[in-house]
Amino acid sequence: MKVAFELSGEHETLPKAEVLGCLEAFGARFKEVADLDQLFVIEIEKVPPIAMRLAMTHHVLEVLGICPVELGAIADLVGAVDLDLKKDETFCVRAKQVKEHVLNISDLEKKAGAIIYKRGYRVNLENPDVVFRLILTEGQCIFGRLMYSVDRKQYEHRRPHRRPFFHPGVLLPRTARALVNISSICKGETLLDPFCGTGGVLMEAGLIGARCIGVDVQRKMILGANTNLQTYGISGELVIGDACNLGLAGNSVDAIVMDPPYGRSALFLARSLEDLYDSSLKETHRILRQGKKAIVVSQAPIERIAKGAGFTIAESHRQRVHKSLTRQITVLRK
Ligand SMILES: C[S@@+](CC[C@H](N)C(=O)[O-])C[C@H]1O[C@@H](n2cnc3c(N)ncnc32)[C@H](O)[C@@H]1O
Repeated sequence: MKVAFELSGEHETLPKAEVLGCLEAFGARFKEVADLDQLFVIEIEKVPPIAMRLAMTHHVLEVLGICPVELGAIADLVGAVDLDLKKDETFCVRAKQVKEHVLNISDLEKKAGAIIYKRGYRVNLENPDVVFRLILTEGQCIFGRLMYSVDRKQYEHRRPHRRPFFHPGVLLPRTARALVNISSICKGETLLDPFCGTGGVLMEAGLIGARCIGVDVQRKMILGANTNLQTYGISGELVIGDACNLGLAGNSVDAIVMDPPYGRSALFLARSLEDLYDSSLKETHRILRQGKKAIVVSQAPIERIAKGAGFTIAESHRQRVHKSLTRQITVLRK
C-alpha cells in the first residue's frame, strides 16, 4: 500500500527525518514514492505503529490515487478509485493546499464530496466514519483515506513553562520528540541524555516507552528533571555526573540524544567548550552500541570532532531558534 505523511511546515527537513527514524526503529522495509513539500509518500506492505509517536506530522493517509492539480483530473480520480467504504459508513472530504493557492479549497471539498455522494455514500461533516483528504502540493494532488491524526496538542501541555521545574535554554517538546524519534529508539530500549538539564528529552523518550538515563553535572537539574519526569509518570535513572566520564559500560545504550551547553551563559564542567564536546563525544561513542545513533544539538558545527571520536555523520539539520541562535542538529552513527 501507498502511505502519505502530511508533514508539518515547522521545519524543512526534521519532519521527514523523524518519519524515517521511526521506520528504522521498526526495521520497516519500504520504498520512497514521493518527497514533496510537506508530504512524504512511501510504498510499504504494512505500516508499523509509528503514527502515535510522531510530533512533526499532522496526518497519515492511505493513498488512493495521485493526479495533477487540475479539477477534471481530480474529479476523475475521486470518481474512479476504490474508496474501500461500506454502504452504511458515512464520510466527509477535507482538502488542503500547501503554500500555493491554485484551487478554491472549500469548492474542491464540495465537488469531491458530491462525486462520492453520487456513488451512493452518505455524508456526515460532523462525525464521519471515514475522512478522505485531498492534498495539493507541488502541482500534484494526493487523494487519501485518513488513517491517523497526530495529537499535536499533547506537546502544548508539556511546554517548559507548564512543567513544575523550569530553566531557560530548554528544547521544546516537539523538537525533543522529533530528536528521540530520529534516534530510532524502540520501546524497552535504553536512551541516554548525558546533558539532561530539565529532562525534556527524557520525558519524550519515556512517553514512548524507552528506558531513560539522564546525567547532568548540576544537582539542581537532576532534582528538577526528577520532579518533571514524576509529574508525567515517567521513571528514569537520573545521575549527577560528568558527560565526559559517565561510568557506564561500553556498548550499553541504544540511543543518545545530547544538548550540551552552547557556551553562551551556560555552565559547563570542562577546560573549554571544545574540550567538553571532544571528551563527551568520545565517551558517548564508547557507550553506544554498534550501528546505533547519537543526536547532537549544538550551536557550532561538530562534524570534525565527531569524526575524530569515531562516528560517521549520517545527517545534519539546522534549526533557527531566534535571531542570534541557530541550532545544528547532527545525526551520528557508530
Ligand atoms: C543546554 S542545557 C540542556 C537542556 C536540556 N536539553 C533541557 O531540555 O532542559 C545543558 C546542560 O548540560 C549540563 N552540563 C554542563 N556541563 C556538563 C558536563 N560536563 N556533564 C554533564 N552535564 C553538563 C548543564 O548543567 C545543563 O543543564
